[in-house]
Amino acid sequence: MTDWATWVERCAAVLRGNQISSRGHRYTRPAPHVYEHQWLWDSCFHAITYRWFDVAMAREELLSLVASQALDGPDAGMIPHMVYWQGDGTALWGQAGRSIITQPPLIAVAALRVHTTAPDQNFLLQVYPALCAYHNWFDRRRDPDGDNLVTLIHPWESGWDASPRWDAPMNLSQPTDEASKAARHALVQVLRAHDCDVRVLTAAGSFSVEPVDFNAIRAADLEALAQIATLVGDDDGGRWAARARAVQQALQRCKRAGRYYDLSGAEETPLKVSSAAPFVLLFGGALKVDEAAQLVAELTSPAYWPPYPVPTTPTDSPAFDPDHYWRGNLWPSVNWLIYHGLRRYGFAAVASQLAERFQAVVDQQGFYEYFNPVSGQGHGPALQSWTTILLDIIATEREL
Ligand code: GLC
Repeated sequence: MTDWATWVERCAAVLRGNQISSRGHRYTRPAPHVYEHQWLWDSCFHAITYRWFDVAMAREELLSLVASQALDGPDAGMIPHMVYWQGDGTALWGQAGRSIITQPPLIAVAALRVHTTAPDQNFLLQVYPALCAYHNWFDRRRDPDGDNLVTLIHPWESGWDASPRWDAPMNLSQPTDEASKAARHALVQVLRAHDCDVRVLTAAGSFSVEPVDFNAIRAADLEALAQIATLVGDDDGGRWAARARAVQQALQRCKRAGRYYDLSGAEETPLKVSSAAPFVLLFGGALKVDEAAQLVAELTSPAYWPPYPVPTTPTDSPAFDPDHYWRGNLWPSVNWLIYHGLRRYGFAAVASQLAERFQAVVDQQGFYEYFNPVSGQGHGPALQSWTTILLDIIATEREL
């Protein structure tokens, strides 16, 4: 059992080693060489970890992210999933500096946690308008049917790039890593051709999904935004809180016979693929107490509770492939969401078990990007920044 000071040291070494300054901004690369640019939800996790030992850097990480918000055009308000501080990205995206899609909105969640650790009104005042514009963009541009569930137009937006969840909407069947990657790159060209217009893309049968977890994360982010509004003295706090409740209620639309599914296409067809995504509903506060208990019973069943939970695809699924990218691995990002969701609903003992096993695998293997949930084998870069989110879990366990 490594002590707190040692974990701080280990996590700080990873994050500081991956930190970089570019064009007047400082941010943390998810991993050098493999992931050189800035990614949206990664930076949120980095900030949440930094606050335990370098709160100034936690703020800087988030400020670098919001600095690349789209300011004009139909997608004004969007915060991109990738910022190319060190390259230009034009070949892929058709424009320099940033991608044209987003990623799970956790920025208000991260900003509020950073502020809670070390209150800084100026920081909140800097991020608040950007976060309002971001959530208004979701409502204006990504909810064409007005059902309070956001539609994603690319698997990269979900953060779960190659998950079996996306095989059907990507028209893939048991794809190899290469085939699935090629399909994601090809889809970017379709997005560009249609100006990322979700109505046109949905009508054309392109990837168009209302995911359970993304919308749950958004509900939590809207709740955090409501609190930030109050902290900065803006009257809109009630409006943001009401938006959060509307999303939480809308998530019930994903329920069929007691189970939750992502909804695909114009017909909102439930994608009947088992995955850990519904557990993120706990994080988003979208469940009644009995619904939460039912989900936690499933989470702790053998298929989702191998030696190193939580596999993103259950071990009894035909699609489960523990050594392949997003096909059934333990992902630190997803674990953090589930851990805090469990605590939100009072399942602290289950959360502690999750924390213990996550800590054990990182202790044995190192800060890998993701892990085989059965053997613990680490995969991807060995010094992945977001795996340091374990520090926030350890801090929570120790009631720091
Ligand atoms: C991969 C992951 C994505 C993450 C990015 C940077 O693309 O699928 O979720 O944001 O790497 O770590």
